[in-house]
Amino acid sequence: MRSEVLLLPSKPRLDSYDLVIIIDTLRATTVISRAIHEGAMAVYPAISIPRARILKKIVPNAILAGERKAFKIKGFDLGNSPSEFTKESVGGKNVIITTTNGTKAVERYKGYGPVVAMALSNLRAIYDYSKNLNNLLIVCAGSHGEVSLEDTYTAGRFLNLFDMVGLNDGGILAREIAMGDSIKVLKTSRHGRYLSEIGMYLDIEESLVENDAVPILKTDVNNINFFGGAR
Ligand code: MLT
Repeated sequence: MRSEVLLLPSKPRLDSYDLVIIIDTLRATTVISRAIHEGAMAVYPAISIPRARILKKIVPNAILAGERKAFKIKGFDLGNSPSEFTKESVGGKNVIITTTNGTKAVERYKGYGPVVAMALSNLRAIYDYSKNLNNLLIVCAGSHGEVSLEDTYTAGRFLNLFDMVGLNDGGILAREIAMGDSIKVLKTSRHGRYLSEIGMYLDIEESLVENDAVPILKTDVNNINFFGGAR
């Protein structure tokens, strides 16, 4: 199995992969996996707030979620804290979500192969889903154009589940830092410290709650992309 890890959104080496794995551990992909796990029918990633509002008019039974500067967007139903995504709030609903980095990465890489959303919460489920594939593209969403510790760490933890894997330098680096303790890494990361400063420390702990969701990008009747469960 070969794996190319982009520590930041950048140009992949190949034009297509067996699977594209998007990581935004704090917090977009954690929330997407949580929403699917809690019974959301679908999670629609939107690249902007106006796009999210347009989708709300098209997608039936939909609620709006997401953040800017980590805070809930005015007029939206939910923010981007994992604990907000419960059976009561998202069960049986379509969730439209827009976040600063994560949902943009989904849009950018969807042409490179089937896309899944991964975080620390569901990395074992994604491992089970991908372990027999040959060629993975792992994209760390990063934060405002900078490498983020928590995404790199998540990529490394995922890669460490495999025995043999051909890696680029990004992957080797990710494996190296994946030895550390998860809560320590998340707390130390720049975005983790920011979340703590604004009173969202619990979101860091919530990011470690495991689930078995495999959110895979699909297309609806209107040709709009959404994440639905693979099983
Ligand atoms: C992002 O997409 O940049 C994040 O999910 C930001 C956050 O909500 O913490």
